[in-house]
Amino acid sequence: MDGNGRWAQRRGKPRIAGHLAGVSAVRATVEACARLGLEALTLYAFSTENWKRPQTEVTFLMRLLRRFLREEVELMRRQNIRLQGMGRLTALPPAVQRDLQAATEATAAGTGMVLTLALNYGGRAEIVDACNARWEEARRQGQTETVTMTDRDLQAHLYSPHLPDPDLLIRTGGEMRISNFLLWQCAYSEIWVTPVLWPDFRGQDLSRAIEDFQGRERRYGGLAQVAGQP
Ligand code: FPP
Repeated sequence: MDGNGRWAQRRGKPRIAGHLAGVSAVRATVEACARLGLEALTLYAFSTENWKRPQTEVTFLMRLLRRFLREEVELMRRQNIRLQGMGRLTALPPAVQRDLQAATEATAAGTGMVLTLALNYGGRAEIVDACNARWEEARRQGQTETVTMTDRDLQAHLYSPHLPDPDLLIRTGGEMRISNFLLWQCAYSEIWVTPVLWPDFRGQDLSRAIEDFQGRERRYGGLAQVAGQP
């Protein structure tokens, strides 16, 4: 969800005004994706690197997040959405952890779209944590000499092992980078970059991205497949 800072700067406002406006885009996108019947939506809300931002910006983002978790939970329940967090969650401020836990529990019975908030998330950190978790499991089972990892082992120790790999990765704000997002899971994801800044992102932008995606040929290293079809 890139471009909040630029959106604010262009209006002569502080960066945090861009994050505040970004929440409306979150609400609109979550609703649009749920209505489209998407199985899963993962939003990169706070990276392991975002702690390097000024303390006031970090504190503001944590407050916004808490407000979102408290205010949107009822709407999510009505939309049959199941919410979860993904990342090094135990390093988040305790109040954020509590609100995340409460929203996760309140929406646990949702059978529709899984909305995952990537918080204190980094793709490299996730792979490191998965390897360590696998190693710890092996140690508990008494195998301390060597641990052989397969794709399946690593997948099983990711933060959300049951989430499907993303079909489509949308990046707003125009940068042609993955920026440490879902590095393992995005191996074969289609990427769509738009110059639209996150606070301006709405249903029509999502539709454009999906239309573009539907015209792609997916090969997964093998023979051609039409996007969106098995
Ligand atoms: C990147 O834009 C955005 C973030 C680091 C934070 C994203 C947070 C929100 C959209 C709001 C809170 C989230 C939820 C789920 C309620 P940037 O500041 O790096 O923008 P720039 O590249 O223009 O500087």
